Amino acid sequence: MAVVVIVGGQWGDEGKGKVVDFLAEKADMVARFSGGDNAGHTVINPYGEFRLHLVPAGIFRAHTTCIVGNGVVVNPPVLLEEINNLQEHGVDTSHLFISDRAHLIMPYHILLDGLEEERRGGKALGTTRRGIGPAFSDKIARMGIRTGDLLNKDAFRNRLSSILEFKNAVLCKVYGKSPLSVDEVFEQYCHYGDKLRPFVRDIGPIIREAIRNNGLILLEGAQGTLLDPDFGTYPYVTSSSPLAGGGSLGVGISPREINHIVGVFKAYITRVGSGPMPTELKDEVGELIRRKANEYGATTGRPRRCGWFDAVAARFSGEVNGFTELALTHLDTFDGFPSIKICTAYRLDNEILDSFPGDIAVLEKCQPIYEELSGWQGPIDGIRDFAQFPSEARRYLARLEELLCCPINLVSVGSRREQMIKVRPTF
Ligand code: IMO
Ligand code: MG
Repeated sequence: MAVVVIVGGQWGDEGKGKVVDFLAEKADMVARFSGGDNAGHTVINPYGEFRLHLVPAGIFRAHTTCIVGNGVVVNPPVLLEEINNLQEHGVDTSHLFISDRAHLIMPYHILLDGLEEERRGGKALGTTRRGIGPAFSDKIARMGIRTGDLLNKDAFRNRLSSILEFKNAVLCKVYGKSPLSVDEVFEQYCHYGDKLRPFVRDIGPIIREAIRNNGLILLEGAQGTLLDPDFGTYPYVTSSSPLAGGGSLGVGISPREINHIVGVFKAYITRVGSGPMPTELKDEVGELIRRKANEYGATTGRPRRCGWFDAVAARFSGEVNGFTELALTHLDTFDGFPSIKICTAYRLDNEILDSFPGDIAVLEKCQPIYEELSGWQGPIDGIRDFAQFPSEARRYLARLEELLCCPINLVSVGSRREQMIKVRPTF
């Protein structure tokens, strides 16, 4: 079979959870490889409607082993609550495993995420305030605490005491806040550790066995390419790599094992939080997209900024990921639109740019150059066969394939499983 990475091609919220839930039907394993509970993967299936923040979207398939990889930062109460909620809906979670190398989000990470945002004032990044940036910073600064550390209480207490001494100094002396109690945090996290113990493993042998057995393994990305710390709109980015390359690092397999890279895109584009977005629509068209597609954050409830499909950014996304195929979601949102625009280049002063600039000061000045295609009447949400799509919808997809030099193999026309349409056979 194959190892397949599912990557967000835009600024997140592309429908990665929906695509994974669909593809997991035949998958032996689904592993999350990056981010934390800043992700909000909405999945609607016969078990109900779920907003998964940490648990891989393969959890609904009893035969699919699900893994939270070493590249993820785990907030224990969020994960435990998520597991609880799944169990209450009749979902079996006995096939879920958490990497012992995954770093933990600690209470000070969440406090510091908020305090750092407030310090930035008008230049706030618009983070999800889930402690993601501070937790990944500590991982790299070698000041993190890992899931596996909770299993050895004496060593955990020693590590926590020395780290908290420093964190308390920052909280008190930089921000004028009260210190956190070592005893309280220790007790709280020992309690979480006891609950998580049955799930925590060295995931390496589990994944390598699945590869040896020739299974279908899906690596579920979080966030999107344009939020990558290196290739996104820095500093308006997240703190771990959502790219296909992050897939191999985030679960500990060789890049040579990866066979397919699926880029997930919306038929338009959205962004939550601050930072440049050349095709943003601040008019009634943007409002119409937001209303029709219910574009409000699954994690924070914030209204998402909406805009036309940006093919310049999407091409760049293809370059840094090497997509072998694409999935396009929310095509039904355009039902009844008289015309649909695609941004094919940027105008920068008197220049035409067809590549995505690395400097946000440049990107902020870029004006989109649009190509306009005819819309269709619809509705298309009841169509299950690609050949039945209105010719204008097929033309829109064909033009995107041409611009991105990559086939669109999956198209969704609604949030339910049966509304995912296979244009061509996949792996
Ligand atoms: P999924 O997996 C959309 C955005 C935040 C903010 C920036 C930094 O659902 O696609 P962070 O809390 O990560 O430090 O915030 O990144 N962001 C997302 N936007 N979807 C996500 O995940 C996101 N995860 C983070 O809004 O702009
Ligand atoms: Mg999201």
